[in-house]
Amino acid sequence: MHPDLEENVLSRIKPDAAEIRRISEAVRNVIARAADYASSNFPPGIRVEPTLVGSVSKNTFLRNPDVDVFVKFPDNVTRKELEKYGIAMGMAILDEPFLKYAEHPYVRGKSNNVAIDLVPCYSIRDSSARMSAVDRTPFHTEFINRTMSESQRDHVRLLKQFFKGTGVYGAEAKTHGFSGYLCELLVLAYRDFRSVVEAASAWDYGTVIIPPGASLGDRLRDADSCLIVPDPVDRERNVAAALEKDSFALSVLASRSYLNKPGLNFFFPPQEHLAPLSKIRDELERSGHGILMIKLPRPDIMEDNLYPQLNKAVKNVSVLLNSHGFDVNRTLGYAGADIKLLFETVHRQHPSKWVRAGPFGWSPNAQNFIAKHKSGGGDIFVAEGRLHSETGKEFRTPEMLLRQKAKSVGFGADLDKLIQRMEIYAGDDVISTENREALSRLLFHSFPWERS
Ligand code: CTP
Ligand code: MG
Repeated sequence: MHPDLEENVLSRIKPDAAEIRRISEAVRNVIARAADYASSNFPPGIRVEPTLVGSVSKNTFLRNPDVDVFVKFPDNVTRKELEKYGIAMGMAILDEPFLKYAEHPYVRGKSNNVAIDLVPCYSIRDSSARMSAVDRTPFHTEFINRTMSESQRDHVRLLKQFFKGTGVYGAEAKTHGFSGYLCELLVLAYRDFRSVVEAASAWDYGTVIIPPGASLGDRLRDADSCLIVPDPVDRERNVAAALEKDSFALSVLASRSYLNKPGLNFFFPPQEHLAPLSKIRDELERSGHGILMIKLPRPDIMEDNLYPQLNKAVKNVSVLLNSHGFDVNRTLGYAGADIKLLFETVHRQHPSKWVRAGPFGWSPNAQNFIAKHKSGGGDIFVAEGRLHSETGKEFRTPEMLLRQKAKSVGFGADLDKLIQRMEIYAGDDVISTENREALSRLLFHSFPWERS
């Protein structure tokens, strides 16, 4: 349909021969060093198998990939030993190594200037008998290499870049989108890039996609997920389990727009615009909405741990604001050098008096309502048979509310540790150069493919 466009994209994302040579060299190097390290440092009973996995092993990688090397340990080592030996090896054999945590720790570093993830895992014979989260991975490599044609691998590259460009690539907590392996299975299931996009334009919540060679496990039959894609190497696992509604919705919207008007903009979108402060000020002036920001230092933790806490904090503060009548419109959790939580509220302040409806005048509770609200200085009257009280509001502005209560809403373990260093800003005090990026994103949202 648009072969020129796809060729064009491919020419920009597909690694060339020189890069492939450089990567193969690095991989050979790492695998040899890992084997040497193990034979001279591990007890004789522990024989490990360093194995190339991930997109490089499947020839579905984009330029400048992270190379995934798994070190398979026998199941007679404990989980603790696996981690200890795996980390020690990574630290010793990689250049510029540092420790990362997924479900279990691994080491990220370099070899021949190529980025390498060295991940310890168990060697298992049957992919449904896994012991740690990554043990299936070598089976994925084997499955893809057995079933996928060479030309389909380029279609996987196109699909990965399409999802990158539209902001939904990656299963990690920041994005909750499409993993590389999911892209591979989608291409297998629908045959090529365009057919995936055509199918995606008609996806509904809960769509079941069965890749060739897979079948739906019993536990997946009524899974509550955006997409249900059984893993061909483990029928009880949904490969799309990490995909959440926002990324799913974006993928459908992007696909429809692409079919309507394909273009490079879907693969390589322009940068987000930074709105001038004057435009931000005008927008808030015109809308009459309130703007609030909570700022915290950024904790030194992995993004996979940070983003769930950021989302939780935004949600809990929104609940607090809503429960006091400051209806929340748009929100943003922003992790830059600092953590910033932004809230746009429908009202900037409540009126000084507020009418609250109480029980009917004939109800047994009536006297309690009167006593309570009289003592609070309320003006009590009856309308439609109900008691009403007109009183002042406890918190006239959302800022007052946050200053009193925000510290106790629960932001997540690591953010809560920093809660004493929380700063609260409202209105004009939020509109500053250092908040331009966050404010632009909050107030002037754009779909990546619609930017100019
Ligand atoms: N993996 C998985 N489920 C995930 C993430 C990873 O099963 N949510 C496995 C897959 O088998 C994947 C491998 O771990 O191939 C490596 O993960 P990753 O580097 O994230 O994916 P790649 O397939 O290598 O894709 P990319 O091109 O993005 O590196
Ligand atoms: Mg990878």
